[in-house]
Amino acid sequence: MNYKNPSLPISKRVADLLGRMTLAEKVGQCVQFFVLPETRESIKQQIRQNGLGSRILNESNLAGALTLRIAEVEDLNELQRVAVEETRLGIPLLYGRDVIHGHRTIFPIPLSMAATFDPSAVEQAFEIAAQEASAVGVHWSFAPMLDIARDARWGRIIEGFGEDPYLAAQLAAAAVHGFQGDLNPQGYYAKGRLMACAKHYIGYGAAEGGRDYNTAEISDNTLRNIYLPSYRAAVRAGVGSVMSAFEDLNGESASGSHYLLTELLKQELGFQGFIVSDWGSISDLITHRLAADEREAARLGMQAGVDMDMCSPCYPQYLADLVEKGEILIERLDDAIHRILTAKFQLGLFEHPYTPTPAQDEKLLHRHMAATRRTAARGMVLLQNNGVLPLTKDHQKIAVVGPFADHRRPLLGSWINDGVPGETATLFEAIKAACPQAEIWTAPSELNDEILDVAARADVVILAVGESNNRNGENSCVADLRLPAGQEDLIRAAGSLGKPLVLVVFSGRPLVLTDVIRHTDAILYAWHPGTMGAHAAADILFGEVNPSGRLPVTFLRHTGQVPFHYNAKSTGRWVSEYHDVPSKPLFPFGFGLSYTTFEYSDLQLPAEVAFGQPVQVSVAVSNTGSRVGEAVVQCYLQDCVSRTTRPVRELKGFQRVLLQPGEARRIKFRLGLEELSYYGPGSQWVCDPGDFKVWVGADSNATLEGKFTVR
Ligand code: NOJ
Repeated sequence: MNYKNPSLPISKRVADLLGRMTLAEKVGQCVQFFVLPETRESIKQQIRQNGLGSRILNESNLAGALTLRIAEVEDLNELQRVAVEETRLGIPLLYGRDVIHGHRTIFPIPLSMAATFDPSAVEQAFEIAAQEASAVGVHWSFAPMLDIARDARWGRIIEGFGEDPYLAAQLAAAAVHGFQGDLNPQGYYAKGRLMACAKHYIGYGAAEGGRDYNTAEISDNTLRNIYLPSYRAAVRAGVGSVMSAFEDLNGESASGSHYLLTELLKQELGFQGFIVSDWGSISDLITHRLAADEREAARLGMQAGVDMDMCSPCYPQYLADLVEKGEILIERLDDAIHRILTAKFQLGLFEHPYTPTPAQDEKLLHRHMAATRRTAARGMVLLQNNGVLPLTKDHQKIAVVGPFADHRRPLLGSWINDGVPGETATLFEAIKAACPQAEIWTAPSELNDEILDVAARADVVILAVGESNNRNGENSCVADLRLPAGQEDLIRAAGSLGKPLVLVVFSGRPLVLTDVIRHTDAILYAWHPGTMGAHAAADILFGEVNPSGRLPVTFLRHTGQVPFHYNAKSTGRWVSEYHDVPSKPLFPFGFGLSYTTFEYSDLQLPAEVAFGQPVQVSVAVSNTGSRVGEAVVQCYLQDCVSRTTRPVRELKGFQRVLLQPGEARRIKFRLGLEELSYYGPGSQWVCDPGDFKVWVGADSNATLEGKFTVR
């Protein structure tokens, strides 16, 4: 049979197979299902009848909040055998799973990965996740999450790359490439890779009030300039699939919008892969009251452009009837099948449908642990340091106390299906390992009097505070961005002991630290740092690693400042302030301290460029301190007069540079037509001739300024 012949081009194999399929077999490919022990036999029966498209290796919509280990490969192979050997056409199943920030080796949460400002570290993290997950039978991961988040009350801010479209776009491409690698010239994935899924298209992070699943209203201008770039970057990087979001957006459902899914994503951006709904987001069209029943929901979803229905009854039950009655054109269904089958061929499933029993490779695991330790350290942000850090190993007595001093699971973050909490050191254990000669004390996390008692007898106090892994993630939103109840009191009390107080914050969102900072000597924002996160924190606290993480989100002074993002627009009046809270944030986007100091000088750029020509910007960066360290040089741009209102400044380039004490280097940025352009009137991609301002420096408040004119 032609489609089974691997020497034919994939497009021919798909066309051949498509030509042989019945309507029922086509519908089967558009269905994603999950398996419970009690449904297993009936699912096998469904596969035997007409085949099925994909199995999600999860048992619940809220899998991120649970820890469900993946099914054994024998289980996966058994069901696959039914699809491959007991169906007429033998189309293999596609196995998808939420491999979000690591598989067995848990990397820091994506928000922390964003704080690395290091696409190569992000690419490596996703590559390692692909390697580990594909070895146990996963073909497809529902990541990276590319939702821009400007409201930290929203719990899923943890899963994305922060508030900035440019940073998110760079990291989106890195994550997609990390998962998928380069397809070979015939279009096949290499072994050890996964198909990526850019989600949740689009605007999911703009939920009103920061409450998950809530309505979002985003103008087309903001949608395209702020929310779209990360998806555009993923499409350009060849992402194999996109997940349509749950929410009600601009009067439509994101999973029922022909404009968003077909016109913008497939036609305008040229996305070639397939669109899967989020879990039940097709049947949610009924909840949104856009469809009266499941049949209508199936029609709306398919017509809008959703190719595969994740775990709702709509497509499996009603697609065939809708096509037979002419309510969905067969061409539309064929297009969906074409996209899904192409992915299955590209992943090599027709040649290698089964997963061999995985062998545990200790050496490899060791390498992966080293990579996550390095990435976790690169993503931690030093927010405050009055000189107490790095700690010297001469301290005799160190108290490592607080609600997160001796806990493992919260260090891992939300989606850790296959991570092993037992393999994660606590901060207390990591500090003991880092400083074996000192006396390291801890106290029960919930007993403030014992914590303070231990702290009072120590030379230095490391207080671990923050959020548990259940306080953020899906459907885990908060109305108050301050630390959870009781923690500020504890910090205040610890601060009054007169001992050097180092705060380590484990969290999935930028918390408000305004009332805390005056009681502490140093604050290390460690996020949920993953399997080796406690060791990474110890590396920084003792100066083995010089901190170099930078904030991918603005840190507010008060929750009432939400939504706040650095790339705000010019207001009509020159001020826009509150009476009761300063209008500035506590820490700006891009901020982060180091154990050394950097100076930025001698900004050079041309006074004029011809339209379409790139602008070369360069700056001298020197390490003026006494330690080797990495600067994250950031370049911001302003289009001085534009056709639609534009941000006062936007990030358009960043580079990490390692500098020895006293060393200076010239760092160059290239601002091409892409960086100078934006979606203007009528959603057209435009570049304005005229003046542009540039700032280069250490964060979004950079003051070294230049100007050029596009003629
Ligand atoms: C719902 C979540 O929104 C999505 O991110 C996830 O991939 C699916 N559930 C599948 O678990």
